[in-house]
Order: sequence, then structure tokens, then C-alpha cells
Amino acid sequence: MNGNFTYCNPTKLYFGKDALDGLKEELPKYGKNVLLVYGGGSIKKNGIYDKVIAILKECGKNIYEDAGVMPNPTTDKLNEGVMRANKAKADLILAVGGGSVCDYAKAVSVSVNCNDDPWEKYFIRFEEPTCEIIPVGCVLTMVGTGSEMNGGSVITNHAQKLKIGHVFGDNVFPKFSVMNPEFTFTLPKYQMISGIYDIMSHILEQYFSGTDDNTSDYISEGLLRSLIHSADIAVENPTDYEARSNIMWTATWALNTLVAKGKTTDWMVHMLGQAVAAHTDATHGMTLSAVTMPYYKYILPYGTAKFARYAVNVWGVDARGKTQEQTALDGLAAMEKWMRKIGLVMNITDLGATKEMLDGMVKSTLIMDGGYKVFTESDVRAVLKASY
Ligand code: NZQ
Ligand code: ZN
Repeated sequence: MNGNFTYCNPTKLYFGKDALDGLKEELPKYGKNVLLVYGGGSIKKNGIYDKVIAILKECGKNIYEDAGVMPNPTTDKLNEGVMRANKAKADLILAVGGGSVCDYAKAVSVSVNCNDDPWEKYFIRFEEPTCEIIPVGCVLTMVGTGSEMNGGSVITNHAQKLKIGHVFGDNVFPKFSVMNPEFTFTLPKYQMISGIYDIMSHILEQYFSGTDDNTSDYISEGLLRSLIHSADIAVENPTDYEARSNIMWTATWALNTLVAKGKTTDWMVHMLGQAVAAHTDATHGMTLSAVTMPYYKYILPYGTAKFARYAVNVWGVDARGKTQEQTALDGLAAMEKWMRKIGLVMNITDLGATKEMLDGMVKSTLIMDGGYKVFTESDVRAVLKASY
């Protein structure tokens, strides 16, 4: 394990079919005013809204609502949320939804008492909050981002054509999260598959780096094997509780800081995907799947040994009699075949990206330096070009 690190995860999880009962334990810890944050209405259709409202009332809370959080939440919506949270004098922000709703709740929580412009402070200058933070709790309805147990908050600025994530410290992590796998059963298949790939990408972004032997990579391989196994079942039968619950738990451990410990991390698939989303507003996991193969094929020569290990330990490639490079390529081929089988989007054209957007997407791509190849702008352009 490289370097020195601390590990602390302050989010308390309530998991399983009765997880929502956890709200009754948590709510009394906070003041009376609760800002209930949710998305475009799925929670009203599937009954989760009514269940949450009943518990809030039972606990004697004043309920204020902030609805309409869109996938890829925007700076305009964030400003509205700050206003609503202020008006409500919110003691707790309760996010009921997917990653967008949870991310947005965190952004509001650090912005309500902020004297600066939150977009500039947190998403452009990457500063940490210096003001009082409103606590956040989550009831998760979509699986993928890991937002339920991390400090990530991703906000889109349409005017600037930027989609940027700030990974806040553990003071911004949700105080608690409710995770009932059955709450995810009503997700459209497209969203379920997108979430599955988001999980895979989170693990790979932290796996493909370094040449040292470390425990984190072994944990990642186990998580990936579980994910692939359960995803195959869930794609065939979306209401298979065992598979959906495994996927939900894997998502959390894929991005709650654990598997990044003792390592550098890559995150270029996310940077490319976020640039695509900044121009197309496409679904997060699909932006990742669409750039993945061009990206990994491009960097494979710089990390061949790790790609070969991935092929053998995750995809069961038989390495006997093969060069390391051939084993690595066979692993990517197996991955690509699986991605196509479960129905992922494999190019950015299908997400609405046009040739005219290329220059803009190149400009919108932030460059990270923890992976096998530190990209230049021309590398970014080459991978995006190969993604059409
Ligand atoms: O808005 P509603 O009506 O609720 O519909 C949502 C939305 O349209 C729907 N949905 C959610 N739960 C449902 C459901 N529909 C039926 N039944 C349910 N149970 O699903 C759609 C997508 O929801 P969204 O929250 O946008 O999806 P996801 O969880 O993938 O979140 C995506 C956002 O998270 C960010 C992404 O960039 C994107 O902005 N990320 C956050 C990260 C983090 N916090 O660490 C890391 C990730 O890499 C990611 O960047
Ligand atoms: Zn992601």
C-alpha cells in the first residue's frame, strides 16, 4: 500500500427491505425543518414519496419540498435549491432519488451559507467549504454513483459547457443513507444498465494505475466479478432481489474511498464522459461506456501488465501460450462483448454528439494525472474522435 492515508467513512447505512425504518431512528437527531429534495416524479409514481412523507409526519417534521432535480443537475437548479433551503431554514436536507438528487443535496448543503458563488468556489477553484454545512441524508432509488456514501457532487453549467465534480471531504458525506434494493425495481432498464456500467467504470478508474501489489486491487477484482455475475442476472430478470441487492452494495463499495486507498487513480474515462455530457446532457453511465473502449485501447500499451492481469482475474482469459499483450487485448475483447450484450451505448454518436461538438468537447475535458498515460490535448482529441 503506497503512501500514508487515513480512512474514515462517517455515513451510516440502512440496507435491506426494511431499510426505510432507519429514517425513524435518524430523523429525531435533527431539527424540525426538513427540505425534501427529489427528481422529476418517479418517487410519486412508485409510492416511495408517500412512505417518506408518512415517516416525516410521524416524526413531527415541518416538510418543505424542492422537486424537479434533473439528471445532471445544473447551476440554475442549485441556485434555486439554495433559495428554498434558506426559506425553509432547513435543519436537514433529505434527498430521495438517484445520484443526481444526492449530489445536488450535497451541493445545496455547502452553498446555503456560502457568501461566495458556489460554482466558482467549489467547482472551478475546488475550494473546501468554510461555512456551516446543512446535514444531508439520502433515500437511494437508483444505483450506480456511490453518492450515498461519498463526498462527490457533480454539477453541470450549461452556459460554460462544463460538467464538473467536486469530491468533498467527509464532513459533506451523507450522515445516513437508506438502501432498499426493492426501491430500484421501477428503474427503466436503460437506467439500470447505465448504473451497472457506472459502477464498473468507478472500479476500473481506481484499478488501472500503478505497478505495485496492493490489497485495493484484489478487492476491486472481487467487486468486478460480483458485479458482472449479478448484472447478467438482473438484465434477464430486473426484479431478482439477490442480484439487485448485490449490485446496490457493490456500487457503494466501488466509490466510497475504500478501493482508492494506497493508490493513485485515473478518472480519465469520467473526464471524457463528463465532457460528452456537458455538450449532450446524456445519461452518465452511457457517456462512460461510449468512450471506454477507445480510451482503454489507447492506454493499453502503457499499462499492459495490469490489463493482462485484469483479463485473467476478471474475465477468465486463458493466458497460456499468449503474449502479455495478447492476453490484455483478449480481456478488452471479452469486456466489449459483455458491454454490447447487456445493451450499453458504445459510441458518442448514439448519445447525440455531432462532429461540430468535437472541439468543444476537447476543451471541456479536464486532464487528470494518476493513470497509465498523462494525456495531452491531442490524446483527448484522438480518443474522442475514435468514440464517434
Ligand atoms: O427524476 P426522477 O423522476 O426521479 O427519474 C430519475 C432520472 O430520470 C430516474 N429514477 C431514479 N430512481 C428511479 C427512477 N425511475 C424509476 N424508478 C426509480 N426507482 O432515473 C433517472 C436518472 O437518475 P439520476 O439520479 O440522474 O441517475 P444517477 O444515479 O446515475 O446519477 C447521475 C448523476 O450522478 C453523477 C453523474 O455525473 C450525474 O450527474 N455522479 C456522481 C458521483 C458521485 N457522487 O460520486 C460519481 C459518478 O461518477 C457520477 O459522476
Ligand atoms: Zn460515474
